[in-house]
Amino acid sequence: MSSVLTGITTNGSPHLGNYVGAMRPAIELSKKSKSFIFLADYHSLIKQQDPDLTHQSTLSIAAAWIACGLNLKNTVFYRQSSIPEIMELNWILTSITPKGLMNRAHAYKALQDATNGKDKDKNVQMGLYNYPILMSSDILIFNAELIPVGSDQKQHIEMTRDIANKFNLTYGNFFNLPEPMIDETNSVLPGIDGNKMSKSYSNYIDLFSGEKTLQKKINQIKTDSLEPGEKKPKNSILYKYFKCFGNEKDLIKINDYFDEGMGWGDLKKELFKIINHELAPFRDKYLNLINNPKKVEEILREGEIKAQKIASANLKKIRSLVGIRSL
Ligand code: TRP
Repeated sequence: MSSVLTGITTNGSPHLGNYVGAMRPAIELSKKSKSFIFLADYHSLIKQQDPDLTHQSTLSIAAAWIACGLNLKNTVFYRQSSIPEIMELNWILTSITPKGLMNRAHAYKALQDATNGKDKDKNVQMGLYNYPILMSSDILIFNAELIPVGSDQKQHIEMTRDIANKFNLTYGNFFNLPEPMIDETNSVLPGIDGNKMSKSYSNYIDLFSGEKTLQKKINQIKTDSLEPGEKKPKNSILYKYFKCFGNEKDLIKINDYFDEGMGWGDLKKELFKIINHELAPFRDKYLNLINNPKKVEEILREGEIKAQKIASANLKKIRSLVGIRSL
């Protein structure tokens, strides 16, 4: 069976888009197959430099995964920063990665394009530039094969393959060439304004806000001016939310409501009920864990012991392949 691995940047607390796009599918997968799920806390340092936020996000995101039902028996769950072997591999891979490959990264190019003036690299930290190499190290240290990610990460997996291939040709075959696993159908929840849900656009709904805030946020989802009694369109933003959260039975009912012309306000109440039904049990567990960080630490430590064993065995072989070994 293929080994599955995915990482989540610990950048604030999770929103509904993270849940639908990354967490829910990975948690489903964890019920059936062995997987590596980790908190990319070193990646988060590129996005923000607030130590308290970095620390708090790690707890919050770890707690969210556990609360939402990650299967801890099948999963190796750990912090990237607890596996120093990743950083060591990062240097080995940096040493053979062509600069031209990094020049082509979408995230880097987008930042350059957005920069006015002569020096296009003015706002680019080396961490952002080297981001794909660290991501390759995350994947290759465990020789993982299947990588569930959002479509925005596809290029990074292709770069990982290029880097793995370069290593194999230079030092002898060691790395698998990993494949991205992208679920295009059900994985994109729009933000309340219809654009991709993202922290950077402030159009997100927190995964674990209280019920009142959840309904309030749902009420802010953009609609048109159709009146009650008028048929509602299925290409609306609201309908996409129903598609992401409703089960088959819900959707039959909701289709009728849309066709009969239920008012947007009432549809939003229905949406709240459906989303809250799914999240309420997780919310309680989440709050419990957030108030009990020792428990989360314990769970992570267990995963880190398992991860470390595999990583150190692999790194030993990699070091030997590149000629770093005892005399
Ligand atoms: N870059 C990913 C994101 O922002 C997170 C990530 C870091 C990751 N390392 C990874 C995902 C390795 C998959 C595999 O979403």
